Amino acid sequence: MPENKESFWPSAKDRKAQAAIKIKELRERIDRWARLYYVHDAPEVPDAEYDRAFQQLQALEAEFPELVTPDSPTQRVLGEVKQGLEPVRHSVPMLSIRTETDTGPGAALAFDARVRRELGFSEADPPVEYVAEPKFDGLAMNLRYEQGRLVLAATRGDGEVGENVTHTIRTIRQIPLLLPTDVPPLLEVRGEVFMARADFEALNERQRALGGKTFMNPRNAAAGAVRQLDARIAAQRPLRFFAYGTGAVTPPEEGGPDFGTHYALLQTLKKWGFPVSEHVKLAQVASELVAYHAAMGALRDQLPYDIDGVVYKVNRLDWQRRLGFVTREPRWAVAHKYPPQEVVTRVEGIDVQVGRTGKLTPVARLEPVLVGGVVVTNATLHNLFELRRKKVRVGDQVIVRRAGDVIPEVVGVVPQPPTAVPARPRYVPNFRMPRQCPVCGSAVVREKGEADHRCTGGLFCPAQRKQALLHFAQRRAMDIEGLGEKLVDQLVDGGIVQTVADLYRLDLPTLANLDRMGEKSARNLLEALEKSKQSSLPRFLFALGIRHVGEATAKDLARHFGSLDAIMNASVEQLCEVPDVGPVVAHSIHMFFAQPHNREVIAQLRACGITWPEGPPASAHTAGAQPLAGKTVVLTGTLPTLSREAAKELLEAAGAKVSGSVSKKTDYVIAGADPGSKLSKAQELGVPVLDEAGLRALLAARAE
Ligand code: IVH
Repeated sequence: MPENKESFWPSAKDRKAQAAIKIKELRERIDRWARLYYVHDAPEVPDAEYDRAFQQLQALEAEFPELVTPDSPTQRVLGEVKQGLEPVRHSVPMLSIRTETDTGPGAALAFDARVRRELGFSEADPPVEYVAEPKFDGLAMNLRYEQGRLVLAATRGDGEVGENVTHTIRTIRQIPLLLPTDVPPLLEVRGEVFMARADFEALNERQRALGGKTFMNPRNAAAGAVRQLDARIAAQRPLRFFAYGTGAVTPPEEGGPDFGTHYALLQTLKKWGFPVSEHVKLAQVASELVAYHAAMGALRDQLPYDIDGVVYKVNRLDWQRRLGFVTREPRWAVAHKYPPQEVVTRVEGIDVQVGRTGKLTPVARLEPVLVGGVVVTNATLHNLFELRRKKVRVGDQVIVRRAGDVIPEVVGVVPQPPTAVPARPRYVPNFRMPRQCPVCGSAVVREKGEADHRCTGGLFCPAQRKQALLHFAQRRAMDIEGLGEKLVDQLVDGGIVQTVADLYRLDLPTLANLDRMGEKSARNLLEALEKSKQSSLPRFLFALGIRHVGEATAKDLARHFGSLDAIMNASVEQLCEVPDVGPVVAHSIHMFFAQPHNREVIAQLRACGITWPEGPPASAHTAGAQPLAGKTVVLTGTLPTLSREAAKELLEAAGAKVSGSVSKKTDYVIAGADPGSKLSKAQELGVPVLDEAGLRALLAARAE
């Protein structure tokens, strides 16, 4: 034992000095991250990293309260007003929630204990009721209604002053602009604006195809859309909303509502037309919160949107008032987080994978890391341009995102502070796309205007063949149970199966001879193959793996044409008549069926006994009650109030066919701002051109 502890342990004074330095550093870091996150919608680190620094700062300030200053990030809600957006003062501040990251049952029970203590309850008192809700990962919004009309939508900002974003919020169809007559004269509804995961993926996919900037996550994409100065851009980004509370409301003394409980409040908001999550649950006792946390955690990946935790709230509003607030957080609510969907890890290498359509995808090999509760070792870098834009190199620290059943992806590199030990060696060669397919050696090409590199080997390439077989066999296609990756590898590498038709020629001795295949599994596979022969036209079409033909298009094609032969013999123009099929997709379908090789495989599949019910084409049995039936309309440019989808829906509901290109057969072109070449084409061909008002007049006139 050392005699003089002082020489080994820093004195209280030293510790305080050290804490002061650390606090300063943490505040600077948090302020920088918060500015990037809230003001620029461009976070530099994952939320979990931010939370960690924040909690570290909170702990140090708790230990040295004399070092707390009013400008510390712990003392205010972060966020500033973006240039160009009008600042608005909230009539009731928008606060934050205390966050617990503990994943065990502890957090819910500790919260309940704290609430009971603060309410002055003893064990003899009855349990406190709570409401449990998902913690949506979007951005907080205050919607102000006066006399039932939406007059203002504002972001949280710093909690006191937010930004006026009424113009973009008005484009969200889920948000009512006008409320029923029984609402109080003043009603502020609070909730979260967010983007569904599929919409986010589609948006990034579009951006990638255009070679544009992609968004880190749905939250970011939503924040960017809401804070657009130009509402037309926001209108093209599908946003959603869930209500979870209120701000200023006409008080009961002045004839306003007395909701009594938070749960009743949410039910009333629902009745008034606000979306409220179906996952909001009433918990009679705190133990139900523990069960809720586990249940939502299990559901998390299947939800169509991101949640980063759950929120528990005291149900009785009078008790909420009694509990009140501490600095920036209410005492009556707590957020209980889930493992982060974005984490930092190191790139150990960059491989190239070959997909079903020959697409070469650079994939980062990672130092294994837990993301949203799953170990991730690989993450996609999408394509060469994306990789270059993100400046990812071997040795880098990167942010990896995994959410839902989407393939994990590298969203960006974590900038290293200049003082840090360099994470990668001084010289790392830039990644290059191979010129030859790493699997079959065929030439790799990139078509003009496309971001993707492709192997030209087609079905000669074992990688493409394997993927084609797996695609064919998947549940939503031919549903051949038991035909997995390992088996397909053996079948292709052993030269046993060349085409999908060969699958139906497999026999028991061949199968039973394969590695890890007993007679039993061989029999099962043969049975599954037999069963798969009774198919449906949409499934069969999808199974063929025609480029651009997903499940939805396959269904549309089947409905429109009724039979495979009709589709196989359709011209590009005829294919374009199918809803949602444009020239690119039509061309791809036409090319597929023009290849003798593909026709041969289809003939063989039919000869093997694959069948499906066929019917007459849809046009033969649709009734002619629709006013625009038989008319072909083309949309171009941005309309002032209608989104492209909405205009299309209206037109289709009226029986019109909305086409992607202008021809002599086009009846009308509807043009908005910044129209494309379609407008000049229409003028050239003398096709009538209408604006949005004209479109509405057309729909109205025809509806009479
Ligand atoms: S209640 C005073 N409920 O979490 C409490 N917030 O740190 C006000 N959030 O940015 C918030 N889901 O936008 C509440 N079900 C929910 C929520 C939720 C997400 C967000 C909110 C705010 C943050 C609070």
